[in-house]
Order: sequence, then structure tokens, then C-alpha cells
Amino acid sequence: MTALTPQNWVIGNWKLNPYFNEAKQLFSAIAQQYQNQAELQTCHVAIAPPAPYLSFFATQQTLPIVAQDVSTIRGQGAYTGEVSADLLKETAVELVLIGHSERRELFGDDAEKLQQKIKNALQAGLTIVYCVGESLVQREAGQAQSVVIRQLQELADVTHDTEWKNIIIAYEPIWAIGTGKTASPQDAQQMHAAIRVYLQTLTTTANRIPLLYGGSVKPENAVELAACADINGALVGGASLDAASFISIIQAFAQ
Ligand code: 13P
Repeated sequence: MTALTPQNWVIGNWKLNPYFNEAKQLFSAIAQQYQNQAELQTCHVAIAPPAPYLSFFATQQTLPIVAQDVSTIRGQGAYTGEVSADLLKETAVELVLIGHSERRELFGDDAEKLQQKIKNALQAGLTIVYCVGESLVQREAGQAQSVVIRQLQELADVTHDTEWKNIIIAYEPIWAIGTGKTASPQDAQQMHAAIRVYLQTLTTTANRIPLLYGGSVKPENAVELAACADINGALVGGASLDAASFISIIQAFAQ
């Protein structure tokens, strides 16, 4: 029987950092400590490095590797500069971030493009880490939940019932990303509970979908976040660039 509770995941999103030599050292430090400490291994750990390093780290087969983006184009063809889900899968990449607010805000990833990316990734057999989250203006206008639910609806519209097992949700309030401001554990839990309730209307497997929190997660706040009933892990930016900090966040979610 499949587990009825979600698995915990801590994912390091390195964004456009660091340079390759430093990246290799950081990756080895994280992978070694994770492999040497059995107590950490109740929590799944994955790294999203910059695109040029994907196949280098993926072929080491130590930790699952996450692409930070994927093309709206499937397969192969005359599409200069694009990286398709199929090629990612071929190079042993296992997961992909879709809908990160930096891509939505800076690179024109609207609902239509995101839905194409979701379809391509699922068809290629990748696991999706689908990011949702509201801006400060939306939160202050009392729209946080409706924004997040709309983003989830856009995911649901292109997801077949059998595909939910390949989906992880990351709630990342935009105002908490890279700002040092974290949502309080109460606010984060409230949103995660709302996400869970909504997912229950979409799929019978909702209780198994990992719901990660992202936005200034650090060792200092990870334990409190990990104690929340519907927070099943973290999507970590800045703190994932320091091996000791990242390991201590993993520790919090491995309890
Ligand atoms: P920070 O942890 O740096 O706030 O970044 C969060 C994030 O965007 C992870 O995807």
C-alpha cells in the first residue's frame, strides 16, 4: 500500500549561483553529509543547480537533480536555446520547478506557458515542483488565498488524476523570497491547510502530496515551520548555498 502521508522534501534552489568550482564543492559537501547521517534520510533532498551543471550532477546519482525551468517545446527540433523536458529526462534529471515567481514576474511565464510546461514535464515522466504564492499587495488586499487557489486551478486543468503522484507543491509568498521576512508559521500553516483542502476537491490522493514552504527559510526558522501539520518540507534559496545551513534545515524536516 502507498503511504497515506506525504514524504518530506527539502530542495535547494541555487538560482543563478554559484560558479562551477564552488558548486562542485557545495554539492559534494551536502551529498556527503546527507549520505553519512542516516537520521537525515527520512527527508528527501534534491538540488536545483543552474542549467549548465544539470547533467554533471545528475550523472553522479547521489542526490536527485531538479531543473529550474523547462521549455514549452516538446522533444527536439529547430528551437535554438531551448531545453525540453524529454532532454532533461534523458540526462537523468528527475524533477523540475515550474511557476517560480521569478519566472512568472521576470520572464513572462503566464498561465498558458506554465500549462504547456506542466504537460510536457508530466508526459516526459518528470516530477513537478509547482510554485504558487501571492505578492504583498495581494496579501494586503486579502487576496492571498484566492490567488493561490487560482494558480492551483491552472495546474489542475492540465493534470490527469494519475499524475498527482508526480507533483509537489511549493507555497512561496513573493514578499518572503530573498527578503529575510518569513511568513509566520501560523500564516504558512493556514495557507498550506487551505491548499490541502482545495487539493482534496481535485484528487483522492491529496493527502499524499508534499506541500513545501519557501521564502527565507533558514536554520533559525526551520524547526518551527517543520512543526506545522501541513508543511512537508522547504524550497530553500539563499540558505541552500551554505552546506551547514542547508543540512540543518534538512535536520529540522527529518525529525
Ligand atoms: P530564499 O530562500 O532566498 O528566500 O528563496 C526562496 C526561493 O525562491 C526558493 O525557490
